[in-house]
Amino acid sequence: MQRLEDKIAVVTGAGRGIGKEIALLMASLGAKVVVNDLGGNTDGTGTGKIADDVVAEIRAAGGEAVSNTDSVAEVGGGEALVQTALDNFGGMDILVNNAGILRDRTIFKMEESDWDAVIAVHLKGHYCCTRPFANYIRSENRTGGRIINFSSVSGLYGNFGQANYAAAKAGIAGFSRVMALELAKYGCTSNTISPGALTRMTIPLRENRGENVGDSEIESGGPQHIAPICAWLASDASAGITSEIFHTGRGGIAIMQQPKIIKQFKKRGSVWTMDELDQIVPQLIDAKKANVAAADESGKPIEL
Ligand SMILES: NC(=O)c1ccc[n+]([C@@H]2O[C@H](COP(=O)([O-])OP(=O)(O)OC[C@H]3O[C@@H](n4cnc5c(N)ncnc54)[C@H](O)[C@@H]3O)[C@@H](O)[C@H]2O)c1
Repeated sequence: MQRLEDKIAVVTGAGRGIGKEIALLMASLGAKVVVNDLGGNTDGTGTGKIADDVVAEIRAAGGEAVSNTDSVAEVGGGEALVQTALDNFGGMDILVNNAGILRDRTIFKMEESDWDAVIAVHLKGHYCCTRPFANYIRSENRTGGRIINFSSVSGLYGNFGQANYAAAKAGIAGFSRVMALELAKYGCTSNTISPGALTRMTIPLRENRGENVGDSEIESGGPQHIAPICAWLASDASAGITSEIFHTGRGGIAIMQQPKIIKQFKKRGSVWTMDELDQIVPQLIDAKKANVAAADESGKPIEL
């Protein structure tokens, strides 16, 4: 029995890059896949039929897939996506919220349209696709579902020039934690991926720094390195693993820290004075630095 046999998956933004590799791998592991992609440019403009090419590739390899070109940024698009799975395969078990665009600008130059477009595809896109899936799970009492969301170090750490994208990606991590809570009753997990891969989204950034991106770089750092953990999280092997953030790429697989209180002081009956905070805040900062240093040490890669 293959790992994803009898599973039905919807992968958004699966016409190229990371989403395509996830769709190909899931199909090769036995899943029936809805390949969604609007087929646009990196900045979200334009449309195309690239989802059909991925479907053809899956079918040529003996797998089952159908395409969908709706936008994840629209409520109707998310509903149509879930309906495509139900109409063609009779159910849905796995949702991979991967579709994405970029409109990098510093805050000084970021227009409302740049802000809205990026928030719409990433953050609202997660809502648009997850809500109909969650409602389907509840109405059919379909257990064992899997939701895989796409965040980024841009939002989890912060990255210059990406306020719109970082806000969406940090929001997605919060969204994923709430989905884990709200769907736990149905045995549905919700986990977040923080990927690092050479795709059309990131190759120009490398090239702008004067770095060469050839076949050997793609082999060691391409989107195919992101797909395995997504497929594993989509499988029955991951039951009970939920609300986590996995960082992956270039042969690495890691688990990330989540926001948590590291140290705290408490007093009763009166509010903190400025003089007390003069004493306490440096101690909090020191505790945080020690925590970061410990995580840096334990997070060093272990070669296998
Ligand atoms: N590549 C990386 O290193 C990296 C790092 C961090 C996060 N990510 C995230 O991983 C995900 C995949 O990125 P990628 O590098 O493969 O990018 P990519 O540009 O290669 O692929 C993204 C796909 O999403 C599709 N898409 C865009 N808007 C859409 C919409 N409204 N509806 C449906 N499809 C739409 C695009 O057409 C494209 O095919 C994104 O969410 C991205 O933000 C990537």
